[in-house]
Amino acid sequence: MGDQEAPDLTRMADQLSAQAATVFQPRSPITTKDLFAGRWSELTEISDAVVQPGLHVVIYGERGVGKTSLANVVGPTIHAIDEYGDGLRGQTLADRLVVKTVANSGDTFSGLWRRLFAEVTWVPPAINGEDAERVSTTEFFSLPRELEIDNVRRVLGETGGGVFIVDEFDQAPRSVSRQFTELIKTLSDLAVDCTVILVGVSETVGNLVQDHASIQRAMAQVRLERMKPDELEQILKNAEKALQIAFEQDAAKLIVRVSQGLPHYTHLIGLNSVRSAAQRLSLSLVERDDVFEACRRAVKQAEQTVTESHSTAIHSSQRSALYRHVLLACALAAARSGDSLGYFNPSAVVVPLQRILQKPVTISTFNNHLREFCEEKRGSVLERDGQPWGFRYRFRNPLLVPYIFMDGVDAGVASGQELVTMLSGEWA
Ligand SMILES: Nc1ncnc2c1ncn2[C@@H]1O[C@H](COP(=O)(O)OP(=O)(O)OP(=O)(O)O)[C@@H](O)[C@H]1O
Ligand SMILES: [Mg+2]
Repeated sequence: MGDQEAPDLTRMADQLSAQAATVFQPRSPITTKDLFAGRWSELTEISDAVVQPGLHVVIYGERGVGKTSLANVVGPTIHAIDEYGDGLRGQTLADRLVVKTVANSGDTFSGLWRRLFAEVTWVPPAINGEDAERVSTTEFFSLPRELEIDNVRRVLGETGGGVFIVDEFDQAPRSVSRQFTELIKTLSDLAVDCTVILVGVSETVGNLVQDHASIQRAMAQVRLERMKPDELEQILKNAEKALQIAFEQDAAKLIVRVSQGLPHYTHLIGLNSVRSAAQRLSLSLVERDDVFEACRRAVKQAEQTVTESHSTAIHSSQRSALYRHVLLACALAAARSGDSLGYFNPSAVVVPLQRILQKPVTISTFNNHLREFCEEKRGSVLERDGQPWGFRYRFRNPLLVPYIFMDGVDAGVASGQELVTMLSGEWA
């Protein structure tokens, strides 16, 4: 029996490793509700808008916070609400139409709507009592080749509360964005029963939708913030359930802290942690050391743009150069700043850098580093704002911050334990 146990365990470990990838998907948006964590208030806000005629939605936020995932579960959420409503009314309505497309820089207003409409078919009235076959939107409405705002409005009015989602709206040319503003204005003025949902990377809704002031009242503006620690924990809990494993409390906390509210990292480190545990044949418990090991692996798998800008930033021929240390201290300052746009003051870099170097420092020790990090030769990893006597800084790409933590552990700039202590400061 003893002879058989070992290969069995190895096989089960391999299975766990493979299965982990179905739960943790660092590179693909969530598509089903059971793997989707948190975001209750945002989903409520969106579904409220969907049932209100004349109200449309803009979902905006920084890269990787989960915009596409949220847009993907709008359909299932709305359908569940509709079904519940049907139950109350004692009747069943046909599934509400929810279609989605992704915008790109070559799009035109007409092309984009053609793509959305291609997902929809229509049943013409029966002829001589015989049911007719379903036909395309173009055929049903005799649409012209180039769709104008009025054509689109007419179709939308017939969809009976249809929901039309455009992801990566920031990629569409300005002219398209302007036409969407016009369209939403018209739909809202005429209280057409349909909902347009625009999704994109942006700090303000104004950056996403041209001339948005004129349609402000017609739009529910959903700014997607980074996920809260308990929402990220939920991702791990979902995985625990699906994989029949447990994350040690310390391990879970560490994953959540390093993730910085960005679910991509929770998935990436979560996946690698489970695999590290599996490799040492611990099939039911993920420990803190697995998380450190995961950080090391994650550094090797990170997106090329992230690794490239990081290595440009810290490159130096001098071994004594402090770029790597200062950058880690900046990442810690950013993580602890609590500013919603991610800005930190130079003074916030002092304490972390002191702990990393284990000697006293002042702002003048690293002021030149900060300036250089904003320059092209160091990959412009930071950008600054304010006056020369009071600059504040932030990372241009927020995904770099967790990467710097992982690199810090990997390169031995700070011990894992030290990093946990520094991270758990005011930031939680
Ligand atoms: N609510 C959530 N629950 C669990 N995982 C999530 C959630 N939201 C996002 N994720 C995960 O986070 C990662 C990034 O999500 P997503 O692609 O939706 O973000 P995004 O904001 O659309 O990114 P981008 O700006 O690059 O388009 C994916 O791995 C996704 O699976
Ligand atoms: Mg997206």
